[in-house]
Amino acid sequence: MLIGRHLIEPGNFTLDELEGLFSLAEDIEAHPEQVRESCRGKVLATLFFEPSTRTRLSFEAAMLRLGGSCLGFAEPGSSSAAKGESLADTVRTVSCYADILVMRNPKEGAALLASRYAEAPVINAGDGGHHHPTQTLTDLLTIKRLRGGIGDLTVGFCGDLKFGRTVHSLAKALARYPHIKMIFISPPELKVPDYISRGILEKEGIDYIEADRLEKVIPELDVLYMTRVQRERFFNEEDYIRLKDSYVLNAEKMELARPSLIVLHPLPRVNEIDVEVDRDPRAVYFKQAKYGMYVRMALIASILGVVPC
Ligand code: NCD
Repeated sequence: MLIGRHLIEPGNFTLDELEGLFSLAEDIEAHPEQVRESCRGKVLATLFFEPSTRTRLSFEAAMLRLGGSCLGFAEPGSSSAAKGESLADTVRTVSCYADILVMRNPKEGAALLASRYAEAPVINAGDGGHHHPTQTLTDLLTIKRLRGGIGDLTVGFCGDLKFGRTVHSLAKALARYPHIKMIFISPPELKVPDYISRGILEKEGIDYIEADRLEKVIPELDVLYMTRVQRERFFNEEDYIRLKDSYVLNAEKMELARPSLIVLHPLPRVNEIDVEVDRDPRAVYFKQAKYGMYVRMALIASILGVVPC
């Protein structure tokens, strides 16, 4: 049962609980009319201390499609954080107004801290370069739907693997599924952090390698997870400019890949996927954004206990 639970990082839910969420998301997608009134009278608060398009709007769309209401702020400048209020006080207060909180914050660990003070359940919508578990729900559901299951796959992660929180969460989550091989493709400066590679993958005996050329490994992949270089987490602009176009997926590279490959991207995209790739049926990132709304509907409904899961 997910009623009243926080979601701070992917390991918070068991594989069975995740499976329950995915099948509920699929039911909701097939019969949205059955949940149209499920959250009538409930309120979701979005506390976004960092920019967002998909995550915030898909949470709000999810709550509205469940018949509930939303309130919140999309930038810290319009909240009392600008007056120096602590995160603990903000979440304690917002818990008085809302039944569930969705928070994005530039500081690693902020969501965990919020969950210790909030009366209402807290969903982490990204804490700095650390985790982004609801993007992972989206990614796993996309893989499950479009590859027929999560297992026996070679998954390539490409781009900014150091600061990309979606990569950290997805790698950690995939490590729990059978026969997953991971290939991490990045410049040396943007390698996946040790706490993921050594701390989790090596400890769990996961087969993984690091590579620096996308064209060399793309023929082996079943799933390619492209990511943006995270400009906002760089200490200096020069490094960002030097590294930002390290990898660009284009039609020529797609020719080297399997016909069954799927290309995911959490979005927003900057230059790392040429728009010509959008026409390739293997490019599924906009479908992925849509699955994100259904899985968030399933998550909100389950945490609020309005549908069985
Ligand atoms: C991601 C994020 O915020 O970490 N975006 C998203 O939530 N879909 C990826 C990114 O910003 O690059």
